[in-house]
Parts: sequence; structure tokens; C-alpha cells
Amino acid sequence: MAGDELAVVRGFSSKASPLASELIKGDTRTAPPGLLATGSYVSPGKKVPLSRYYDRAFAKLEQEKLWKKVWQFACREEDIPAVGDRIPYTVGETSFMIVRTGASEFRAFYNACLHRGTRLCDGLSSGESVRCPFHAWEWNLDGSLKNIPSRWDFPQVKTSEYSLPEAKVGTWGGFIFINPDLNAAPLSASLGILAEHFKTFEPEQRFTAFHISKKVRANWKVVLEAFLESYHVVETHSDALSFTGDASTQYDIWDDGKGHISRLITPSAVPSPHLGDEASIANAVNATFQAFALAMPGVPVPTFDASSQLSGRAQVAEWRRQMMGVGLARDFSSVPDASMIDSIQYFMFPNFCPWYGEGLPLVYQFLPYGDDPNESVMNVRLTAPVPGGGAPRPPSAPIRHIGFDEAFNTAPEIGLLSIIFDQDMSNLPRIQAGLKAAEEGRAVTTLGRYQEQRIRHFHDVLSATLGL
Ligand code: FES
Ligand SMILES: [Fe+2]
Repeated sequence: MAGDELAVVRGFSSKASPLASELIKGDTRTAPPGLLATGSYVSPGKKVPLSRYYDRAFAKLEQEKLWKKVWQFACREEDIPAVGDRIPYTVGETSFMIVRTGASEFRAFYNACLHRGTRLCDGLSSGESVRCPFHAWEWNLDGSLKNIPSRWDFPQVKTSEYSLPEAKVGTWGGFIFINPDLNAAPLSASLGILAEHFKTFEPEQRFTAFHISKKVRANWKVVLEAFLESYHVVETHSDALSFTGDASTQYDIWDDGKGHISRLITPSAVPSPHLGDEASIANAVNATFQAFALAMPGVPVPTFDASSQLSGRAQVAEWRRQMMGVGLARDFSSVPDASMIDSIQYFMFPNFCPWYGEGLPLVYQFLPYGDDPNESVMNVRLTAPVPGGGAPRPPSAPIRHIGFDEAFNTAPEIGLLSIIFDQDMSNLPRIQAGLKAAEEGRAVTTLGRYQEQRIRHFHDVLSATLGL
């Protein structure tokens, strides 16, 4: 198709707001290789049929050929801190029970009783064995059958054949992944460049500071894709334009056929390039100081110092290093400016978005909900650094559930971020409705060559995984 052979323009900048890659090169500390690396994947640029987002047969295909076949992010190790702790990981109609079975040993069991099918784990719980609430069939933590009440009535049950069925488990950086395909290659291949890129970030040295589980009336891919690009900032989050490099965002994709990873870097403390060459850097820097200060009540908020040798970005980064250093008894002195203030978000196919750096250390997880392709769950957590100086590891925040019709602003712990999430959420049911109303001949997406290339890549991998 005409248009897809044309050259890709890698972002849009202004005098006041250079491309992310230029900003990073000019920062006060040399960025680690991962941050300087660029991806080379080029999408063949196929159009995405809108039916993918609501067709029940397509959702069924995903359940069979995607969710039962790939490594997927389930939870964090700190969610189940003690041996015997367990938590459900539910993806569509399939559910697993993730159990800590040793100091650093985890197992994933199908979350269904072998007697009459009752879900075994409904929420965070604990115990030396797993007992079904219906008739008390009971299993040991290693999945072996422990007890059946009225054992005399089940002569047909061989204990050796009634262990709980398992999925594969892999861990990296405090994250727990599962793969129901017992013949799958180890997790490491699917992580692609993640382990290398996150070396300096040490995700294992972090804990879950807030944890939101939001039900959304939109397909899980609609929700995921709303967070893979900064193209929507100019319209959906226009109040952030004064301090966000939306159009100057850098997008990269790495794909070696096994690890399917993409990334965006959206600079902070610069005006949007849409605001023109003369947009105010002082305003951008002051707004960024204010935004970060909201998470640190009581801390005096600096303002842009035009006489400083440091750029505005570097001023914010330096202040963050000092404040976080004092607050957490950790040394941030070698952390690059970009890692202190920018929004750096990675994506691993199919459901995992770990953010990199102290700017916004979030983790997103996207999941289908039940059997309805029009509904999904988005899980969001903040992973803060574990304090230094011998302080104990803080406990993981409990999961706050937010219903379909409730807003993120019902969760006070997430502060200013709730405004941004609620702006995103307001679009999603409208997208889901509009998809179905499209004229038959135009029922495909038209994706940007650069800013939406992560969505192109996602669908390329999805198509291959589903055998389409
Ligand atoms: S269904 Fe689980 S013990 Fe009966
Ligand atoms: Fe957004």
C-alpha cells in the first residue's frame, strides 16, 4: 500500500524541545548502554482488523494459542513473601494459583479442584497446605495430594495421579512469570534484551508501593495499546504539554524471534514540541518540579535557576537525586538524568510493561477478563526502591480493586497519576464502541509509522503467535 514504503521520520522536535536521544546525549552523566541502544525492528506494516478487539472467536483463539502458550507476567515475588503464601493469576477464564514453596522457589498450579472444579485460590492467602473450601480435598505445597475426606469413597483415586497440574514458572528481577506450555523454552529467551537493559535498575531491589487492579470496559489490547504511545498526549493529556516531550518521544523495538520487546522514552522537564520553538523551558522545569513534589509532601519545591550551569532537566534530576538519597538512605549520585526524571517504559509481549528509572517506576499488566472480549483488567503498581542503610524491606501494598464504573481517583495513594489514568480510561469504552460501528470497508486501523510502531509490532507478533 502506498505510504508504507515511505521513509520513517523518527519524531518531531523544536528548538526548545530536542528529540529524546539528543537530550540523553547532553545529560550530565553518561547513560548506560541499554538507554543508548536503539532497536532495529521494522514492521511489515499490516493493517489491523478492528474485529480483533471484539470478535469472540478471536478471543477464543487468543485463549488457546496465546495465553496457553507463552511466558506471561503473573505477579511479583513480594506479593507472596512467606512460604505457603499464594495468590491467583487469572487470565480470561483460565486461572492459576502462584505459590511460594521455598525461600526462592515458586510453583504455579491450575486453580481448580480435582474433585468438582472449585477455584482453590480466590485471593492472597496462606497455609501449609491447599484445601478446597467445598469438601476439603487437600494438597501439599508441592502439589501432591495430602488428604481426601471419606477416602473410602474414592477407591478409584490413585494418590500419585491426583497431584495438582502445573504450569512452568520463571523469575527475573523479582517478577514471576508462568507458561502453561510445559514444552516451552526457558523464560530467559522471552526476556530478550530486558535483563541486560535493567541491570542498572535492579528491579529485584524494589517493592510494590501501590497496587491497583482496574476493571475496564474495553478489550485488553485496546487498553494495552492506549499505553504504548505518547501520540495521544496532545489531545488526551493536553494539561501535561507544558512539561512533556510527547512528539520528541523515542520508540524502539528489539525482536530476535524469541524475545519481543519494545520501549518508549518520553522526556520530562521540556515543553511539548507542539508548543513551538519559543515555548518556555522555565515553565517546563517548574511544572516538573511541582509534579515530582506532589509525591513528597512537606519538601520545599525549587524553581528553575536560569543562572545555573545545569540545564533545566539536570536541575530537576539533581534535586531528585538529593531528595531520594536522603529519603531512602541510598546513593543516586551516578544515576543518569534521564533515569531520574523521564518516562521510560518497556513492553514484553504479551502483557508486561515494566518501566525503567526513577522517573515513573510503574509496572503495568493487561489481562482479558472472563470470556467477554469487551472487558479486561489493567493492573498497575509502583515499584519503589527498597530503602538502604539496613532498613527492613517494606511490605507490599495490598491490591486495591477499582470496579468498571469507579475512577482511579478513588485510590488516594496514587496521587496526581489518577488524573492521567482517568483521562486514559475515559477514552476506552468509546474506542470499544466505535470499533464495532466502523463501515465494513474501513474496519481497520491506520497506524502512525513511528509513534505507533510498537502497536504494529505487537500485532505482528500476535498474528504469528496465533498462526494467522
Ligand atoms: S470441589 Fe473441591 S473438595 Fe469438592
Ligand atoms: Fe495516556
